[in-house]
Amino acid sequence: MSKGTFYITTPIYYPSDKLHIGHAYCTVATDAMARYKRLCGYDVMFLTGTDEHGMKIEDKASQAGVTPKQFVDNIVEGPRGVKDLWKLMNISYDRFIRTTDDYHVTAIQRIFKKMHDNGDIYKGKYVGKYCKPCESFWTESQLVDGKCPDCGRPVVDAEEEAYFFRLSKYADRVRDLLENTDFLQPRSRVNEMVNNFIKPGLEDLCVSRTSFTWGIPVDFDPGHVVYVWVDALFNYMTALGLDNDAHDDLDKYWPADVHFVGKEIVRFHSIIWPAMLMSMGLPLPKKVYGHGWLNFGGEKMSKSRGNVVDPYILAEKFGVDALRFFMLRTFPFGSDGNFTNELLIQTINTDLANDLGNLVSRTTAMVNKYFGASLPAGCRTWGTPESFDQELKAAASGLRDRYEAEMEWFQFQNALEEVFRVIQRANKYIDENAPWALAKDMAANGRRLAHVLYNLLETTRICGVLLTPFMPESMEKLFAQIGADSSVRTWDSAKVWGALPETAAPQKGENLFPRIDMEKELAELEKLQAPAKPAVETEPLAEENVDFDTFCKSDFRAVKVKDCQSVKKSEKLLCFTLDDGTGTDRQILSGIAKWYKPQDLVGKTLVAIVNLPPRKMMGLASNGMLISAVHKEKGEEKLNLLIVDDAIPAGAKLC
Ligand code: MSP
Repeated sequence: MSKGTFYITTPIYYPSDKLHIGHAYCTVATDAMARYKRLCGYDVMFLTGTDEHGMKIEDKASQAGVTPKQFVDNIVEGPRGVKDLWKLMNISYDRFIRTTDDYHVTAIQRIFKKMHDNGDIYKGKYVGKYCKPCESFWTESQLVDGKCPDCGRPVVDAEEEAYFFRLSKYADRVRDLLENTDFLQPRSRVNEMVNNFIKPGLEDLCVSRTSFTWGIPVDFDPGHVVYVWVDALFNYMTALGLDNDAHDDLDKYWPADVHFVGKEIVRFHSIIWPAMLMSMGLPLPKKVYGHGWLNFGGEKMSKSRGNVVDPYILAEKFGVDALRFFMLRTFPFGSDGNFTNELLIQTINTDLANDLGNLVSRTTAMVNKYFGASLPAGCRTWGTPESFDQELKAAASGLRDRYEAEMEWFQFQNALEEVFRVIQRANKYIDENAPWALAKDMAANGRRLAHVLYNLLETTRICGVLLTPFMPESMEKLFAQIGADSSVRTWDSAKVWGALPETAAPQKGENLFPRIDMEKELAELEKLQAPAKPAVETEPLAEENVDFDTFCKSDFRAVKVKDCQSVKKSEKLLCFTLDDGTGTDRQILSGIAKWYKPQDLVGKTLVAIVNLPPRKMMGLASNGMLISAVHKEKGEEKLNLLIVDDAIPAGAKLC
C-alpha cells in the first residue's frame, strides 16, 4: 500500500554545453531522495528535463552553424549528452520534459494569456541590463561593479517594448511565505532573499523579449517571445498536465513536495515562481531547497570558468556509485563544497574500501571458511549476549529512525554519517570478538562464533538497505553477497533486528570497493583532466560592442619609464615617472606592486592611455593608466605590463 505521493524535481538544465559533475550533484541528490521515498513506500514522481530556449542557445547555435533545435537536440539526446549522463549516473527519473516539447509550448502560451487576461501581465517598455549567460534582467542598482550579481559577467544594455509581470503586487504575500513558513530551506536562504530582493522593493518583472526569436512566441502579439524563466518555471506543472492534454497527473502530484535547486536560482524559485502561481490561483509547492555549489579550485564549477570535472572520467575510474556516494557523503547539501580528486579518493578508501568493503568481505569470508554454505539454524539467539552484542544490536536497530530524521530534512551527509557509525561499530565488534581466535576451538566456541557472524551479517543488511538510495547497484551486489533476498531489503525490514534468515547463504564475491592507489590515480587524473582544466584562464570576451568613434577617442602612447617607486603605506601601488614624448614628465600610479619590483621597470617602454581624467590615489596624482594583460594560471591571478620594443620612441601613438 502506497504511503501517499511524493513529487520531487531538479532544475531543468540549459543544454548550452555538456553537463559536468556540478550539474550531476543536484540530480544525484534528487535521485537519492526519490529512491529513499520509494523505499519508504511512496508513489514518487521524479521530474527532470531541459530548459531549451533563450538568447544564449540561439547565439551558440549560430556559432555552431546549426539551428537552435538541432543544437539542443544534440546536447540533450546526442552522445554523452544530458540523457546519456543521467543514464551513466543511474538517475531514476520518472519523466523528462524538454521545454521545446509541443505540449509545453502550447501550455505556456495559454498560461501567459491567462496572466495577461487577469491583468497581471501588461505591456510597457523595458530599459535595463541583461545578462545573457544567466538569461536574467537586472536594474542598474542590482548590478555589482557594473556586472551581473549572480555570475559576475558583463551585462548588456537592453531597451525594448515588453510585457511585464506585476511581481510588486505579490511582494507582501511572498515575504510572508518566506518568513513565516518552511517553504524555503535551508533557513539561511530566507534572509538572503528578503534582504537582497524584497526589502529593496520588488520591481515588476520583464517577461517578454523582442530582440531574439528562439523562445515561445506570445501568440497574441507576434514578435514577442516569453521570457525564458516564465517558460522554464512552469515546466514543473506542464509536465503534469497543466493547460495541456499530454499528461494528466496534476491532481495526483501537485503541489510538489520539493524543488531542489542550486543557490543562484533560489530567487526565481522562491520569489518569482510563487508570485506567478498566486497570480494563477494555483497551489504553491510545499518546499524549495537551495543547495550549495560544487566548487573546484575554490570557484563554482562551470564551463565558462573552465574548471569543470568530467563525470565520465571519474565514473569509469571509480564507479558510478562511489561518485554518487562521495558527493552526498562529503559535503553538507545546503553549503558549498570544494571538489578535489584527493578528497574523492580518500572518501572511497576510508568509507567504502576500509569500512564497508572490509566489513562485507571479512564477514562473508569467515562464514564460508568456518561454516561452509551458511550459518547453523538457531544461531540468532545462541549464547548469553555480551554488552557489545547489545550495543551493536541497539545501534543497528535504531539506525533507521535516526537516518529517517536526517533524510526528511535532506541532510544526506548526516544520514550517511549515522550509517557509517554503525558500520564502524560493526568493524570494532569483529575485533572485540576475534572470530579467528574463537575458530581455533570450534567445539567450545562454535555456537558463539556463529552468533557473532550472524550479528555482523544482520548489521550489514540493515546498513545496506539504508545505503540503497545512494548506491543502488553496489547494494544489489552486497545483498547477493550476504544472502539477503528481496524480502529483507525493504524499509520495514530495516527496523527489524533478526529479519535475515539464519540460514541465508552468504557468498564471498568480488571486492565491492577496491582500495585506490592515491598517488598513481592522482597522477593519472591530472593527465586526464588537464584538457578540461586549462592552466591558463582568460576573461570572456566583452558581450557589448563599443562604437568606433568612442574607441578612437582613447589616446594610447608608448611611454618610457624614467623612474619607478613604491608608494608609502600602499601594498599595491607603484608610482611611475614617464617620458611621454612631450618633454614634460608624466606621473602615473599603477596597482601592480604584487607583480613587479620598481627598479626592474626603469628604462622599459610601456603603453599608457593618456587622456583619462586625472585621479588621486594615496594623495598622489595619476595622469593616465598603464596597460597590462591579465589572466589566471592554476587559479592564481597573473599580470604582465605591456612592454614594447625599445625601437618605439616615447610618445609614439598607438592606433
Ligand atoms: N535552466 C535553469 C533552471 C531552470 S529551473 C526552472 C538553470 N540551468 S543550469 O543548467 O544552468 O543549472 C541547473 C542546475 O545545476 C542549477 O540548480 C545549478 O545551480 C546547478 N549547478 C550548475 N553548476 C553547479 C555546481 N558547480 N555545483 C552545484 N550545482 C550546480 O539554472
